[in-house]
Amino acid sequence: MVKLWNGEAVQWHLTFCMEGKAGSLEAGKAAGQLLVHLGSREKLTAEELRRIAAKSVKQVQNLGGNLVLLDVAAAVEILKEEGLAAVVQGAELALYHQENWKEKSEDKSDIQLYLTATEDVDGGAILAETTVVDRWVCFARDLVNCPSNKLTPVLLAEAVVQAAAGLDVEVQVLDDKVTRTLGMEAFHAVGDSSANPPRLIVLRYRGGGEAAPIALVGKGVTFDSGGYSLKPSTGMRGMKGDMAGGAAVCAAVLALAENQAAINVTAVIPAVENRISSSSFLPDDVIGSMSGKTIEIGSTDAEGRLILADAITYAIRYEKACKVVDIATLTGAMARMLGGVAIGVMANDDNFFTALQDAAGRSGEKFWRVPDYPEYKQLIESQVADLYNSSDSCGAIAAGMFLSAFAEDTPWLHLDIAGAAWSGKLSQPYQPKGATGVGVTTLYQLCRSFA
Ligand code: BES
Ligand code: ZN
Ligand code: ZN
Repeated sequence: MVKLWNGEAVQWHLTFCMEGKAGSLEAGKAAGQLLVHLGSREKLTAEELRRIAAKSVKQVQNLGGNLVLLDVAAAVEILKEEGLAAVVQGAELALYHQENWKEKSEDKSDIQLYLTATEDVDGGAILAETTVVDRWVCFARDLVNCPSNKLTPVLLAEAVVQAAAGLDVEVQVLDDKVTRTLGMEAFHAVGDSSANPPRLIVLRYRGGGEAAPIALVGKGVTFDSGGYSLKPSTGMRGMKGDMAGGAAVCAAVLALAENQAAINVTAVIPAVENRISSSSFLPDDVIGSMSGKTIEIGSTDAEGRLILADAITYAIRYEKACKVVDIATLTGAMARMLGGVAIGVMANDDNFFTALQDAAGRSGEKFWRVPDYPEYKQLIESQVADLYNSSDSCGAIAAGMFLSAFAEDTPWLHLDIAGAAWSGKLSQPYQPKGATGVGVTTLYQLCRSFA
């Protein structure tokens, strides 16, 4: 969507300038000219630039412009590569449009953005890398926005296979027979609740030689009704997006592959529907897991941690992961605490958490670490099994503590995106209504930092 400018004719000329109130627009002297104010040099950050770029291109779009030149020299002079990438990303992510299934589709003509070349940076290279990442963020959004009847676990697996075609990524879809043989009982407790069978989707990208891969494990619940611990009907809206973590890990790996990052990474997506049927699991059930640990079911609505538990064990045992990151729309408690602004994190390794913070510094996404004090282990104790899947208090922490039992000694990060996966009142200007695609850019940056 963004290209380097080669003197093509444009309707709008947006000049980013270091003055005025950050984010405000002002008409320039000639017709079609707009000044985009960036505020003070000292205060300008890449994230602020991302927001300003998003706001200004949306405004121009509303004014009916579709050939737009962004003159970003002033910003790039200060923030260099990072500044250029931020403008491109803010603009591309802001202009995303959700698919729809209307009989008559309104033809929103695509807006073409051009960037002025600057001498400060290699614009072409940055543009190429950023555009690829943005396209995969939008792919993740498409999956999350897609209704559950059009994206069952089997269809999700097909969509992933299709998306990876042409890239140097191996996609393996383990069907329910295979996962049962592997002993993934926790995954099946949820997956067997629906006539739409579960799938374990595995993507392997090997750009980094012989090193053990980082595993990215993403929750892939294509619909979460809550099961017999049924959600109230209002709480069920949006649960087509309960696979946002799965979409994010898939997108991150495909972006790394397309940009030929020098790392080894494996995405594991346990894909299931959580439904009510005669083959559903029930509250009070005691189930097994691939790890051998048994689990007492306090709530069938705490299904995410069950499928992730087996996926984490699978990643460590079969994919020989040296590090694990899980990402999931896991708890309402985290969503209520952080809203759409930040992603909740639990970590069992300080260095790995520091690497995440560095990656977040480059992506602009915000992370907030919750504690894993030993006292919290009591939350997941059961009288009759090794673990309890629900808890009456500290819901976000209990979920993290549960997963940490399966990560064992492997360096592990748990990212709870329950709040951030959907845009809302607190969202950024580059997050249009619907799915945000949150997590993709940070996972991309995190993996790249290990190259
Ligand atoms: N998918 C939900 C979490 C969720 C809630 C995501 C709201 C996005 C928005 C998850 O499976 C769930 O239902 N969690 C329960 C756990 C509880 C029963 C222990 C929750 O948070 O209420
Ligand atoms: Zn649930
Ligand atoms: Zn869920």
